[in-house]
Amino acid sequence: MKFFLDTGNVEEIKRIIKLGLVDGVTTNPSLIAKEGRDFKQVIQEIAGMVSGPVSAEVISLDVPGMLKEAHDIATWAPNVVIKLPLTEAGLEATHQLAQEGIKTNVTLIFSAAQGLMAAKAGATFISPFVGRLDDIGVEGMELVSNLRQILDIYGLPTEIIAASIRSIAHVENAALAGAHIATIPGSLLPSLWKHPLTDNGIDRFLKDWEKMGQK
Ligand code: E4P
Repeated sequence: MKFFLDTGNVEEIKRIIKLGLVDGVTTNPSLIAKEGRDFKQVIQEIAGMVSGPVSAEVISLDVPGMLKEAHDIATWAPNVVIKLPLTEAGLEATHQLAQEGIKTNVTLIFSAAQGLMAAKAGATFISPFVGRLDDIGVEGMELVSNLRQILDIYGLPTEIIAASIRSIAHVENAALAGAHIATIPGSLLPSLWKHPLTDNGIDRFLKDWEKMGQK
């Protein structure tokens, strides 16, 4: 499973990239707004730091607006991917962009039917929102697993980005459910490599070493 960072924060990316754990980046309008910086500048900076796909989301809700934004964003960097919401307009724009060879990430997917529509429209990536489904009492990871089955049955080339990831269990279960990618908030990532028994183990080894009187 590939790891994308779900962030608009360049410092977070710089830290994690050193570990070889960043296969791509996803952003959304909320994440960009949190940074309080120019959208284009942030995306270009990120796209220059990672070689993998960097998703930048359109904010228009109509097809001409989406396409206009998408055509502009697509010129910002060669590895930029256009993120569009799963609406009728989003599907039409996705289909049009696919025909032009522009990569897309269809976001805000909450059902298998929506995911299948987006894949058939030609989406490069689809983003089911696991955490937000959990929030309303629906098992979000089941959607990831169902989508993987559907893509495999029909040999559709679209890749699943497990999104709205909130916990270590989400990451582990996304891998088990067959997500091609998990997009992980920069703040959550360190907890993936941390374990209290690892820290205790290091402590004990060092204490035993000191007892020997060796330097
Ligand atoms: C995905 O691409 C979105 O940016 C993100 O995962 C949404 O996560 P949230 O539900 O925690 O806001």
